[in-house]
Amino acid sequence: MGCQLLLWLLLLLLTVMATASGRKRNIAEECNPGDLKALTGFKNGIHIDTSGRLAKWVGLSCCRWEGISCNNATGRVTEIRLPGFISTNDMIFQSQMEGRLSPSITLLTSLEVLDLGELVGLTGKIPPAIGHLQNLRELYLYKNKLRGPVPESIGKLLKLEQLHLHENQLSGFIPPSLGSLENLNAIYLHSNRFTGTIPESFSNLKSLMHLDLHSNSLTGPIPESIGELQLLKELDLSENFLRGRIPPSVNNLTSISVMYLDSNHLEGEIPFPSSFGLLPSLAFLRLQNNNLGGRIPPNFGYLVSLQRVTLANNKLEGTISPSLGNLEALTELYLSGNRLSGVIPKSIGQLSHLILLSISHNLIQGPLPHEMSALQNLQTLDLSFNLLNLISIPKWVAELPSLSRIYLAGCGIRGQIPDFLRSTPSPIQELDLSVNHLNGGIPSWIGSLTQLYSLNLSRNGLVSKIPDSVADLQDLGVLDLHSNKISGSMNQVFKIGNSFPDGSLTYVDLSDNSFTSGTEQIGVGAQRRIQYLNLSHNLLDGKLPTSIGKLKALQSLDLSCNKFGFSLAEAIANLSLLETLKLQRNHFTGKIPIKFLNLKKLKDLDLSDNLLEGEIPAGKPLSDFPQSSFTGNRGLCGKPLSPCMS
Ligand SMILES: *[C@@H]1O[C@H](CO)[C@@H](O)[C@H](O)[C@H]1NC(C)=O
Ligand SMILES: *[C@@H]1O[C@H](CO)[C@@H](O)[C@H](O)[C@H]1NC(C)=O
Ligand SMILES: *[C@@H]1O[C@H](CO)[C@@H](O)[C@H](O)[C@H]1NC(C)=O
Ligand SMILES: *[C@@H]1O[C@H](CO)[C@@H](O)[C@H](O)[C@H]1NC(C)=O
Ligand SMILES: *[C@@H]1O[C@H](CO)[C@@H](O)[C@H](O)[C@H]1NC(C)=O
Repeated sequence: MGCQLLLWLLLLLLTVMATASGRKRNIAEECNPGDLKALTGFKNGIHIDTSGRLAKWVGLSCCRWEGISCNNATGRVTEIRLPGFISTNDMIFQSQMEGRLSPSITLLTSLEVLDLGELVGLTGKIPPAIGHLQNLRELYLYKNKLRGPVPESIGKLLKLEQLHLHENQLSGFIPPSLGSLENLNAIYLHSNRFTGTIPESFSNLKSLMHLDLHSNSLTGPIPESIGELQLLKELDLSENFLRGRIPPSVNNLTSISVMYLDSNHLEGEIPFPSSFGLLPSLAFLRLQNNNLGGRIPPNFGYLVSLQRVTLANNKLEGTISPSLGNLEALTELYLSGNRLSGVIPKSIGQLSHLILLSISHNLIQGPLPHEMSALQNLQTLDLSFNLLNLISIPKWVAELPSLSRIYLAGCGIRGQIPDFLRSTPSPIQELDLSVNHLNGGIPSWIGSLTQLYSLNLSRNGLVSKIPDSVADLQDLGVLDLHSNKISGSMNQVFKIGNSFPDGSLTYVDLSDNSFTSGTEQIGVGAQRRIQYLNLSHNLLDGKLPTSIGKLKALQSLDLSCNKFGFSLAEAIANLSLLETLKLQRNHFTGKIPIKFLNLKKLKDLDLSDNLLEGEIPAGKPLSDFPQSSFTGNRGLCGKPLSPCMS
């Protein structure tokens, strides 16, 4: 009896197992007919698939197709994962699909994940019936060519966590219904053509961590509801704040850490935070390139998690809120291009993690608070073009141990370049002291700033010669000394970067000075990376060296308003990347070399006011320029001037 029961049980078990495995096989072999139809519809919409994945979608077992996952129990399709960027153990591959996104995908009612991101060529609209996909958790359609609006029905996708529609050509309003999707973690709608306002309803998104709406055409104010407080009284909060306590979360946007609303047409004031404790996780805030006005909110310092803040290029006015000093985690602060006034608050000195401070192009007044000398981690300081009237560079600037980029253009600095910069503990890479009232010479110790990459001393009153030690700046890429009174030879400049095979210089502007010589060194050393060379408005004379033909990267050459003579160097015709060539107001003689017709990229040419004669070589690009490019010479003829008499 016992034995019989055991046998019976065994049989039962075997039957169950057989049924189970049979069912599994069935699922793999034939998929849900509705889903099959939907997937076939999707495939038919695509006419090019460089990945070859869709070509393998044949037969009836769609659950086995590449990129498709099904639910084992129901056999329904749950995931389509066909991202354009394919990365496996063996390879990384950017594939492309061309064709229209078929509305048939909305028949896949069990779909949880739809990933058609970065297929580059997907066109059409987001299907209006997208709201049928009630199980959808993740929707990736970014980096395609989708047009039209985001359907209002998207607000029915109550399980949606990830919404990535960025970098398409989507337009219309952002549907307010998105604000009811409590599970949303990320909204990426940037780099589209959305208009209208940011929905108030976004303030309900409890789980939202990333909100990226940048580079659209959004208008109106930032909704106040984003940083509004209804539950607690301000007084209690500031008390808590003083005691360093963070009260429990009081609004719904408690998770948001990234908010990018930049490069739109937003206006009005920055509405948040109305109180302490709001937006407690906000770390990365970008509001630049809008039309925001008013003051930086006095409560801004309550956003204690902020690490990187960009408010640049708006219409912000008033003083810089001293509360910024409370942002202990702040590493980067961009305030440039506003109408901020008053002095920099002392509290800035408390930002011990600050790496970058950019306040250029405002109406800030001096003096700089000495507290700034506590910014031990500061690497970039940009205070250019304010009303600072510094008179001299504060000594503490040179004592900041991490500072490597100093921008103090238009700061009313007078006198000589101070000697203390020589002994600075931090390796200076970029130094911009342009548009000040510096006088005296470029100091001979300049060569000891061996890390220097960019030096801008333009528009000052510097005199005397360039010191030989300039040639020691072997990493120098950008040298701008224009509009000073520097005289003598410029040959040291063409020795910079000689320890590299192609040289280090890319940009050289020595224009509007009193240089008399040194051009024979052009192209002799390694200068094959120079793209911009401006020697105009000097006292240079003699013949242009043929070695100029070695500056193969040159795109812009300006030698105008000098005293160069003799014939035009044919070598110039070897500079095949040249787009700008300005040789006007010199004493060049002879004919325009026929090889100048090789300068196919030339967009800007001026040979006027020289002593050139003969026929202008016939053909493009020379014939395309206006007469004014050739006038004022001894005897030029031919197109675009009048025909030559033969
Ligand atoms: C479905 O089956 C596959 C293999 O047949 C297995 O790897 C997977 O874990 C199963 N999924 C579920 C949800 O049971
Ligand atoms: C928070 O969300 C709920 C709905 O989930 C809403 O009723 C409430 O008004 C929201 N509170 C704030 C401060 O936005
Ligand atoms: C140097 O400074 C001047 C004036 O501030 C500016 O116009 C110029 O673009 C700067 N040069 C470079 C190479 O950035
Ligand atoms: C060269 O410098 C002069 C004087 O500083 C300036 O007017 C001119 O625009 C510059 N040329 C180019 C091509 O940038
Ligand atoms: C132009 O370049 C070619 C090869 O790149 C070289 O042979 C020739 O001498 C150069 N011409 C001039 C005038 O520099």
